[in-house]
Amino acid sequence: MSISVLFVCLGNICRSPTAHGVLLRKLSERGLGQRVQVDSAGTGAWHAGEPPDRRAQRHAATRGYDLSGLGARQVESADFRRFTHILAMDRANLADLEQMRPADFSGELALFLSYGSRGLLEVPDPYYGGAQGFEEVLDLVEDAAEGLIARIGLPA
Ligand code: 4NP
Repeated sequence: MSISVLFVCLGNICRSPTAHGVLLRKLSERGLGQRVQVDSAGTGAWHAGEPPDRRAQRHAATRGYDLSGLGARQVESADFRRFTHILAMDRANLADLEQMRPADFSGELALFLSYGSRGLLEVPDPYYGGAQGFEEVLDLVEDAAEGLIARIGLPA
C-alpha cells in the first residue's frame, strides 16, 4: 500500500507547511522521497493561494528547509480519498476534520504529535506570537516527523 500524508492546521501558512517541508526533506535524505506523497492544507480558506508566512519561511530556512514553493489551500472532502494519513496540528483542527470524515475513510486521522516524543499533543499556533513560537513549531515538528518515519511502516 502506498502512503500519502496530509498535514492540516488552521491557515496552512505556519504549522502545516512547516511539517510538509520538514517531512519532505527527511524523506528525501533517506531516499524515500518517491515512496510517500506529502501535502498540507488548512481548515480555513483565508490564506488560500498564499505562500507560507514569511516568519515560518525564515525560521525553517535557518534549519535548511525551503518552504518557498508551497501554497496554501483549504482541506476538502476529496482529501479523504487521496491521503492515507491525515494529521492535524491541534485538537480544533482534528475536530473540524472529524466533522468532514466520510464513513468509509479507512486511513488514519490523528494528531501529528501522537508520533512525537516530547509529551505534547498539540503544535501551538505561532501566528500571533513571536520568534520563539516558530522555533518551538520546528522543534516539535522535527521530532514528530522522525517518529512518523519510524512508525509509518514504509516498504523496504
Ligand atoms: P497556522 O497559523 O494555522 O499554523 O497556519 C495561522 C495562520 C493564520 C491564522 C491563524 C493561524 N489566521 O487567523 O489568519
